[in-house]
Amino acid sequence: MHVFSYFYHMRIDIITLFPGMFSGPFDQSIVKRAVEKGLLEIHLHDLRDYTADKYRSVDDYPYGGGAGMVLMIEPIAKCLDHLKSERLYDEVIYLTPDGQLYDQKVANHLSTLQNLVLLCGHYKGVDERVREHFITREISIGNYVISGGELAAAVVTDSLARLIPGVIGDETSALSDSFQDDLLSPPVYTRPANYKGWKVPEILLSGHEQKIREWRLEQSLKRTIERRPGLMENIDE
Ligand code: ADE
Repeated sequence: MHVFSYFYHMRIDIITLFPGMFSGPFDQSIVKRAVEKGLLEIHLHDLRDYTADKYRSVDDYPYGGGAGMVLMIEPIAKCLDHLKSERLYDEVIYLTPDGQLYDQKVANHLSTLQNLVLLCGHYKGVDERVREHFITREISIGNYVISGGELAAAVVTDSLARLIPGVIGDETSALSDSFQDDLLSPPVYTRPANYKGWKVPEILLSGHEQKIREWRLEQSLKRTIERRPGLMENIDE
């Protein structure tokens, strides 16, 4: 008998000035579980380890003047050359507020890939030549500015970890998440059934599976129409 088994495994290399920022998000919950199960490998690379000068400097003043510092191309190129000499990367992603807005569709697509690099920017960003010659995709996690790409890279990594088959059990399948079918999730309740007169909807206590499924779909539709009507039509809101 032939047993076809697909072995899912994703490797994410993160290039950052602040590797310590990931210790919280990656040491807990789903990401931790994905790593422990051997389904996800995360490698943090401190950009300062790839500098050539004795001051270990990674940034410099912008040509033409202006406020802020710019990450230099050399340490980034050195780090990327090193990584690319060891394996093929599907995407080299730069986290930046002027990138493509991240959503579940992009997450689903990225989760099918094997090797990713996430480059975290800082200060005024990276030398434009990095973006022109090394970066294959630019991602923004929202229309606001955070202090660097680290938190954005953690968000992207978390969203991918939960999509790797085998990371989340059937009982909490990522396929039932909000956004997966362009619908928001229905409301959920747990014990007690009556909290100081605030009651759980009767239908959920009825044990009638078909009726409960219908009620949940109805609630999902209602919620989506009320809160995020553009989601169903795939319109950017
Ligand atoms: N770096 C700074 N702000 C960002 C954002 N909104 N998304 C991704 N990277 C960022």
